Amino acid sequence: MKLTMVGTGYVGLVTGVCFANTGNTVTCLDVDPRKIEMLKKGRCPIYEPGLEELMERNIKAGRLKFTLDKREAYVDADSVFICVGTPSDERGHTDLSYILAAADEIADAFKARPPGLRAPVVVVKSTVPVGTTIAVRDRIRARLGPSVKFHVADNPEFLKEGDAINDFNKPDRVVCGVEDAETAQFFRDLYDPFVRNGHPIFIMDILSSEMVKYASNNFLATKISFINEMANLCEAYGADIAKVREGMCSDARIGHQFLYPGLGYGGSCFPKDTLACIMMGDKGGVEATLSKAVHAVNQKQRDRFFDKIQAHFKSAGGLSGKALAFWGLSFKPRTDDIREAPALTLIRKAVGFGASVKAFDPVAGENASKELGPAAAVVADMYEAAKGADALVVCTDWDEFKSPDWDRLGKALKGRVIFDGRNLYRPQQMRELGFTYHSVGRAMTRPA
Ligand SMILES: NC(=O)c1ccc[n+]([C@@H]2O[C@H](COP(=O)([O-])OP(=O)(O)OC[C@H]3O[C@@H](n4cnc5c(N)ncnc54)[C@H](O)[C@@H]3O)[C@@H](O)[C@H]2O)c1
Repeated sequence: MKLTMVGTGYVGLVTGVCFANTGNTVTCLDVDPRKIEMLKKGRCPIYEPGLEELMERNIKAGRLKFTLDKREAYVDADSVFICVGTPSDERGHTDLSYILAAADEIADAFKARPPGLRAPVVVVKSTVPVGTTIAVRDRIRARLGPSVKFHVADNPEFLKEGDAINDFNKPDRVVCGVEDAETAQFFRDLYDPFVRNGHPIFIMDILSSEMVKYASNNFLATKISFINEMANLCEAYGADIAKVREGMCSDARIGHQFLYPGLGYGGSCFPKDTLACIMMGDKGGVEATLSKAVHAVNQKQRDRFFDKIQAHFKSAGGLSGKALAFWGLSFKPRTDDIREAPALTLIRKAVGFGASVKAFDPVAGENASKELGPAAAVVADMYEAAKGADALVVCTDWDEFKSPDWDRLGKALKGRVIFDGRNLYRPQQMRELGFTYHSVGRAMTRPA
């Protein structure tokens, strides 16, 4: 099939590359000339394990190309996948301007569609408030007129950054919201190579499909806020969240996934999708009480952790003039995505209180440096970040932070103090190594 991806971000690029890899001819369109230039040279503008290799292979095979030219991308495509951003403001109002602009551009290009081609399927892959895909259909229809037939569909994406290729190639499920049997068959054919493991393709109405995405992300966000609330109770009453987690999660009905205490969720999906549910509830007259609580717990989690840092330095005159080292800037490991990353919130707060910051991340340093500007020094080595610091703050659970060279770290730091926002280390081990150690949902430990 001849497919076009609208947007070459995390979703559009992964989707385009994976569809090309199963034999489709894929054009990836973007409005960002810098991205398209890089992609044309075979370089990947985002960090996603395995993506660049797969990209190269499919470019060489002639199945994958990149363009800024909308007409070329749309005019004779069998299907167009809209994968543009849908950011939200802090109240949860979704900015649909990128979606609507893409709809207009698709309509304009379809006006020149050669006769005799089958009716294209315009697929909304971006996460959109319920009702948006129908609005896209009506907008294209109004602009295009009745002469060219097309179908619309919603096909939410569930990939995880950092493991996106695997998630796309072996999805737990594929969800497709359609209006007719022809479009349902289009999706069955397209996704057939991806569900050979027996996992299902759910064909449903468009509104339910749009809602599946929000319900899934909101539920995962709820699990994270739930375990963080339990961790906070553990701290207040002297229990240990690690033991509580073991005891609780071994119940098969509960399970272990997404029940890790820490700094709360970040990234481009959970925060905005939880907020979008709140906004959809407010607009629809159905207050999303639980979503509001999930969001509030998440926001407070960063503040609570920062309070620990401040409390520690209180007797030494506060954070002003102190040096802090930060390990981890991306919102989670195996990605360079820093959107809504807890590390950035904590760094900005620390700097606001007069601390100086040196930070390291295995891949997100460049993005974070652009975002933070001169507020923090982003360095290329984790021990360099620790050099001369009064404390180390761990914000992302990258593998390389899990078992550092303690001797080297101890020598680099000025103060043997660690704030571990991801519970990477054992309190007893930290005690024996001579660190003052703060984590989440577990008692603070001092050197033996
Ligand atoms: N990032 C994820 O892990 C993830 C997972 C599942 C779903 N989603 C959803 O997928 C959507 C895209 O997310 P993302 O993280 O890939 O976004 P992104 O910001 O990384 O990429 C969006 C891309 O679209 C391009 N674009 C904007 N307008 C365009 C237009 N008119 N024509 C062509 N290109 C255009 C931008 O230049 C950008 O490169 C969002 O709705 C998001 O919620 C994201």
